[in-house]
Amino acid sequence: MLSLADIKGLYESRFDNPPILVRACGRINIIGEHTDYNEGFVLPAAVDKYIFFALAENGTSEFHFYAANIKDSFNFHLRDMAPGEKVWANHLMGVLQQFQKDGVALEGIDCVFGGNLPIGSGMSSSAALECGFALGVSNLFNLDYSRKDLALLAQRASHEFVGVPCGIMDQFASLMGRDGQAIRLDCRSLNHEYIPLDLEDCELVLVNSRVSHDLGASEYPRRVAECKAGVAILQQHYPAISSLRDVTLDMLKLHRAELEDSVYRRCIYVVKENARLQEACRCLWNGGLERLGTLLLATHEGLRDEYEVSCPEIDYLVEFASEYPGVLGARMMGGGFGGCTLNLIRKEAKEKFLKDISKAYFQQFGLQSEYYFVRPVDGTDVVRGG
Ligand code: GLA
Repeated sequence: MLSLADIKGLYESRFDNPPILVRACGRINIIGEHTDYNEGFVLPAAVDKYIFFALAENGTSEFHFYAANIKDSFNFHLRDMAPGEKVWANHLMGVLQQFQKDGVALEGIDCVFGGNLPIGSGMSSSAALECGFALGVSNLFNLDYSRKDLALLAQRASHEFVGVPCGIMDQFASLMGRDGQAIRLDCRSLNHEYIPLDLEDCELVLVNSRVSHDLGASEYPRRVAECKAGVAILQQHYPAISSLRDVTLDMLKLHRAELEDSVYRRCIYVVKENARLQEACRCLWNGGLERLGTLLLATHEGLRDEYEVSCPEIDYLVEFASEYPGVLGARMMGGGFGGCTLNLIRKEAKEKFLKDISKAYFQQFGLQSEYYFVRPVDGTDVVRGG
């Protein structure tokens, strides 16, 4: 866990030019999982878990990075930029490559980063890394990018350099978050509205399973492909559809026999998840928190049984939570195969719940879980006067 002051100090002990400082946000997603790359809806928020950056131009064509949490460094020359074994460095080079593709004349940068955003926990540390760096570079070189453009640039970096066909949710949430609000984002048009995250006597708590199964790397692109395969078959009957966003349950049921069983289940999950999200937004507007909890549990069941991106550790945490007095709902969050669960819980039940779930999880798996309280905050930004 490193603070902004730590990162600034580490930068100053390594480099000379005065840096700008950036704080990049992780995100939660209340509901709407695996809907973004299907042009559906998501409901994320930027939260107060950060990667901090200190960075400055160095007047050469060399780039020097230091990843402070893992005490790892990476240096390269612009002309040698190519994806390598260090995934974190690929995210950063990917961002630089996108600026180059946009015609930006880059110069060398010295950069130290690190913070308190848990890595590989479903809170999107990769997007925070890309977005914080992209915003930093755009400030250093006085580039004229909107936040939306930076989110799209960061997403392209993931697609083209890192090789992850992710949706837009994480980058958008990291850059567009607002204090106290969730973002209802239409991933087709990128139209969005802010919804106050007023949870009355309840709170959202994250429980980190501390597992991150490798499967995610291969299964995520497979899910993207399965959804596309479903759309391709349905398009033969409904030429106007271009993604699962346009598909209804009736269409799916009518053509079930033409779809492979796994493809059918992926598609049905996505269509139902978009509907759950709309209802969840109404719950937030109208104070229907009990119902919101039920929707979270339904999402988890869908992710577990239809989309098949959960894992035994996460299922255990969700099941334990769902039976616990004072917990309104819980589900896995993010891409899947590990990371955090999101728990909607009455404040008064929180303390005992966290003690009990951590004990039960340890007994079951021999693993020490972690928990985080998170608050929706303004998105990734330059820190003035840090
Ligand atoms: C990852 C991706 C997102 C989104 C989620 C699942 O976090 O980066 O684009 O698809 O998984 O909702």
